[in-house]
Amino acid sequence: MKEKMAIEFRNRFQKEPEHIFFCPGRVNLIGEHIDYNGGKVMPCAISLGTYLAVSRNIEKRFRFQSLNFPEKADLHLQTSYSKSGKDWFNYPLGIINEFFQEGHGLSGLDMLFFGDLPVGAGLSSSASIEVLTAYALSEIFHIKISRKDIAILSKKSENEFMGVNCGIMDPFAVAMGQKNKAILLDCDSLAYEYLPLETGDYVLAIINSNKKRTLADSKYNERFAECGSVLKLLKQKIDVQNLCEVDITDFVQNKNWINDPVLEKRALHVITENARVKDALVALKKGDLVWFGKLLYASHKSLKEQYEVSGKELDTIVDFCKTYPGCIGARMTGAGFGGCAIALVKKISFDDFASKLILYYKNLIGYEAAVFAATTGDGVTEI
Ligand code: GLA
Repeated sequence: MKEKMAIEFRNRFQKEPEHIFFCPGRVNLIGEHIDYNGGKVMPCAISLGTYLAVSRNIEKRFRFQSLNFPEKADLHLQTSYSKSGKDWFNYPLGIINEFFQEGHGLSGLDMLFFGDLPVGAGLSSSASIEVLTAYALSEIFHIKISRKDIAILSKKSENEFMGVNCGIMDPFAVAMGQKNKAILLDCDSLAYEYLPLETGDYVLAIINSNKKRTLADSKYNERFAECGSVLKLLKQKIDVQNLCEVDITDFVQNKNWINDPVLEKRALHVITENARVKDALVALKKGDLVWFGKLLYASHKSLKEQYEVSGKELDTIVDFCKTYPGCIGARMTGAGFGGCAIALVKKISFDDFASKLILYYKNLIGYEAAVFAATTGDGVTEI
């Protein structure tokens, strides 16, 4: 891939790239839609991700090109930018803007990006390109900034520049990931620990529904706002700073204060999902994958029924998984409304599982899903 990036860079910019960087995507094992509620999540970085070949220029231009998209940009260097249109280069531009806002001096850059992550599939293609850009800037311009701060800065850019109220999970996972490990991250304190990801006789399958996540950003912001409203109501009775501090007993005792069936469902998901992550941690530490799998199914049910972020495509995948003997757990992963699901499947059954699922899904949905075995990887790095 390094060679391919260098060749393409030379063709487009008629010079050598000074650096080539890679940032992974991620899957989240469990703890969905609770990062922005101060909960605990369990993502891991995967081997697919985004590449950047880059060189400085003396023309004071930021030039953005991609092997995935035809749109390019060639912008004069200025110390403040705002989002223009919906093109992909707004993601790295937001990061450049953030560096300027934080007072870091940058000079012009020629940049060529390539991603082998399916875009919009819920595997964090946006955090991947943002953290990739932030890490590259810090290395090229010798700016001292920790990986954790790169994640925080990338989240800020996604919230303020891109206008999506996402939490810290994705940038943290792709900045801090380690091969063969999941990260248990407390999204309130940002305390974290690495967990060995030992799946024994099972493989972690990633199933891309190939359903475009068209409404994802607006629905995501809607859920974010709903959680804010329900927290405000509960705060009248319980002394908490975020929804994940509310335990189920407090919730049951005080839910009459919510007095809105939709908000009640949202809170129920958040509170039970946070409890499931704690159970999943125990299950993983004990090596009890069957229990872990049951928690995945329970998480999906809650995302479908209480949080309402699944959809018929993701539900079809999980329904199939429940009937397949070699599968012990499955759920949607990421924001939902399409995108990917994960499943724990017996290694020896994986090929059979994949072919039968693809057939089942095509019969019901009309187009194919893609099934592949997840390979974990390290966080952002120069290659
Ligand atoms: C998206 C967001 C994350 C997180 C997940 C849902 O991936 O970027 O911050 O909220 O959805 O868990």
